Amino acid sequence: MEAEEEGARLAARLAAGGQGHVLRFWPQLGAAERRELAAELRGMDVAEINGFFRRARGGGGGAAGAPDGRMEPVPRDALGSASRDRGLLPGWESRGLAEIAGGRVGALLLAGGQGTRLGVPYPKGMCDVGLPSRKSLFHLQAQRLRRLQQLAEERHGQPCCIPWYIMTSGRTVESTREFFQKHRYFGLKKENVVFFQQGMLPALGFDGKILLEEKGRISMAPDGNGGLYRALGAHGIVDDMERRGVQSVHVYCVDNILVKVADPAFIGFCLEKGADCGAKVVEKTNPTEPVGVVCRVDGVYQVVEYSEISLATAQKRGPDGRLLFNAGNIANHFFTTAFLKDVVNTYEPQLQHHVAEKKIPHVDMETGQLVQPEKPNGIKMEKFVFDIFQFSKKFVVYEVLREDEFSPLKNADSQNGKDNPTTARHALMSLHHRWVLNAGGHFVDENGTRIPAIPRLKDANDLPIQCEISPLISYGGEGLEKYVKDREFRAPLIIDEDGVHELVKNGM
Ligand code: UTP
Repeated sequence: MEAEEEGARLAARLAAGGQGHVLRFWPQLGAAERRELAAELRGMDVAEINGFFRRARGGGGGAAGAPDGRMEPVPRDALGSASRDRGLLPGWESRGLAEIAGGRVGALLLAGGQGTRLGVPYPKGMCDVGLPSRKSLFHLQAQRLRRLQQLAEERHGQPCCIPWYIMTSGRTVESTREFFQKHRYFGLKKENVVFFQQGMLPALGFDGKILLEEKGRISMAPDGNGGLYRALGAHGIVDDMERRGVQSVHVYCVDNILVKVADPAFIGFCLEKGADCGAKVVEKTNPTEPVGVVCRVDGVYQVVEYSEISLATAQKRGPDGRLLFNAGNIANHFFTTAFLKDVVNTYEPQLQHHVAEKKIPHVDMETGQLVQPEKPNGIKMEKFVFDIFQFSKKFVVYEVLREDEFSPLKNADSQNGKDNPTTARHALMSLHHRWVLNAGGHFVDENGTRIPAIPRLKDANDLPIQCEISPLISYGGEGLEKYVKDREFRAPLIIDEDGVHELVKNGM
């Protein structure tokens, strides 16, 4: 009886919100399907979703038109560069390590995405891109954190920890937790790895009607990586940061195999500048590269997507010959905990969803058949992690070299394009190759002849030198001399906790 009453209340609420059609196939559902659908709908605020749709569709954000004429590049005084400000780097790094040693730094991983393009049936962080060690992305990141803690401890003589906050979604939560349990948190203390879940939103037709993925199931998707801010509030994560004494947070994406988790130089730079918010960027060198750029629009910092500006704007060059808008966003950010607290308490509700038009498989309301659309038939609403730049009181930008710090895993190898497991694996191995050379090591070929420091790649499909260094041995290329200086190696070379291994295999 109670269930029936609840069902009636649910139906009334949905009908009042113009979404009564989601119960259209209710009479055909079995008991378990009904329970699941009712549970999903119980947690759904239909009025709020309708409001999101109206605001996102109604514009407001985009009302001012194309940003081209209102864009200014990042001014020099807000900019630091890991390559061009080399002299300042040790000072920034020291400051960051001191903060880490004092337990004032946290890392926050955005791992709630669906990874549709990659197409694996598990969270992207669990991906093994075929490195000699077969380590997953989660594994590499955990080991980087351990090594960084060790470096800070060595420098300051006190044990420390970098709490690791991991944002998952309804799509990734269970398998991510299980994976960490299975791997015993990769040697980190369980209590310092904090999982929390972002929200989900239904996919909508162009008319704002909720789409069904099955007769008894709503088509749901995570609410974008900017769902972070709502989730931080909903799960008391900022409170947890405050309790632990965390004052600076490094936020980054799961899919960048080169990510320097909690990078002390980046953190030190942002703190030296007195920033509350910072973005790590790589130089955009090709005007047509489809990457968002960090810049100011009407004096306010934001990321302008490639699709929002004209080719003429994208091609503009500054007096130094570089692209004028060259601060390529890699979703790698610094926030103070105080800023995050303000965002959660004050600004988050002001953020508007971005609308992505997508081909969304759905159940036809007339026939009950599943439709696989050939052109976009509906929208997904997402917030982005960079949407909060506009609220920063002191914003800075830190430029790093792409080949040192950015190689995202987006696509499957079969798609034969870029940003796939092969490019990620090659990026990591060629970075480690360079670390060995910088530390005074050499590689020789099968005849014992030294391979030139800049290898002659015959074509784009040439394999890089196979070289992998465990993050537990080196975080950013440091400390390798004792393993490699004045020594010659034949690839594949692995350096890990058990020492130096040359895995000579015929025909490689
Ligand atoms: P992407 O925008 O590349 O999305 O995410 P994705 O889910 O990894 O891949 P596609 O687009 O479905 O192929 C960039 C980062 O933001 C996180 C992802 O996990 C990744 O680290 N993300 C994305 C979230 O945490 N939540 C989301 O809702 C979306």
